[in-house]
Amino acid sequence: MAKHPVQVIAVTGGKGGVGKSNVSVNLSIGLAELGRRVVLLDADLGLANIDILLGLSSNRTIEDVLQGECDLADIMLTGPGGIRIVPASSGTQRLSQLNSMEHAGLIQAFSDLGDDIDVLVVDTAAGISDSVMSFVRAAQEVILVVTDEPTSITDAYAQIKLLNRDYGLFRFRVVANMVKSPQEGNALFNKLTKVTDRFLDVAMQYVGAVPQDDAVRRAVQRQKAVLDAYPRSKAATAFRALAKKVDAWPLPSSPRGHLEFFVDRLVQEAGA
Ligand SMILES: Nc1ncnc2c1ncn2[C@@H]1O[C@H](COP(=O)(O)OP(=O)(O)OP(=O)(O)O)[C@@H](O)[C@H]1O
Ligand SMILES: [Mg+2]
Repeated sequence: MAKHPVQVIAVTGGKGGVGKSNVSVNLSIGLAELGRRVVLLDADLGLANIDILLGLSSNRTIEDVLQGECDLADIMLTGPGGIRIVPASSGTQRLSQLNSMEHAGLIQAFSDLGDDIDVLVVDTAAGISDSVMSFVRAAQEVILVVTDEPTSITDAYAQIKLLNRDYGLFRFRVVANMVKSPQEGNALFNKLTKVTDRFLDVAMQYVGAVPQDDAVRRAVQRQKAVLDAYPRSKAATAFRALAKKVDAWPLPSSPRGHLEFFVDRLVQEAGA
């Protein structure tokens, strides 16, 4: 098991299509540019998988790892900036529902990564299914991606409420995506905290905003990350700024700060 702290960051938000996967990918690359060793776990089996977003393909999945047929390192894909990606598969979805043999296998799989990782970014699916909630509560840092639409704000609020009430999470970071101005990002954060402050006892922290930028859509079409395809675009600049902020977050102190803890939380409390 890794002996140094690993930052585990879940990227979520409730609503579909708000930019969770693009935030996950570009934040990961941004952190890699800052010298962090990043693994991106794709916990969404939906259509816009990370491997598709980045034009990568794999034939082995985490299912093969769970069966003991290969190591985690064998299934990981290498993306821009040297980030390593654990692709989505039915096995990934199943990570929160493993039997004890598989659980032991998963801990072993992560421990084989050794000290070779600083940050684990987890891209979650839309919604608040048990699987999504398992990944989020197992992380140390939760980034909610929100856009300035009523449905995004209400879905984010519903997710915060559930994570707080049922899972005891109390600190949430917010990234405003597809904003037309920095002011819109701040206003969006204020809208959200107005409701959380009123009804919940949680600490909300604003990370920053990513502008609405056609370069993101074009990059997705080219199956590339915007940070890679259009490094000087407004969105890429914003993603780099986000990565800088995230990089300055204090490292977790043990035992929360170890991958072992993530795997344990992920597996043991499933459905609790
Ligand atoms: N900052 C942005 N500017 C312009 N378009 C954006 C931006 N962020 C995301 N998009 C567009 O929104 C689409 C959806 O983004 P993404 O796949 O990252 O969302 P998601 O929240 O992961 O969706 P899902 O819930 O399906 O997993 C992208 O394909 C892109 O076209
Ligand atoms: Mg996604």
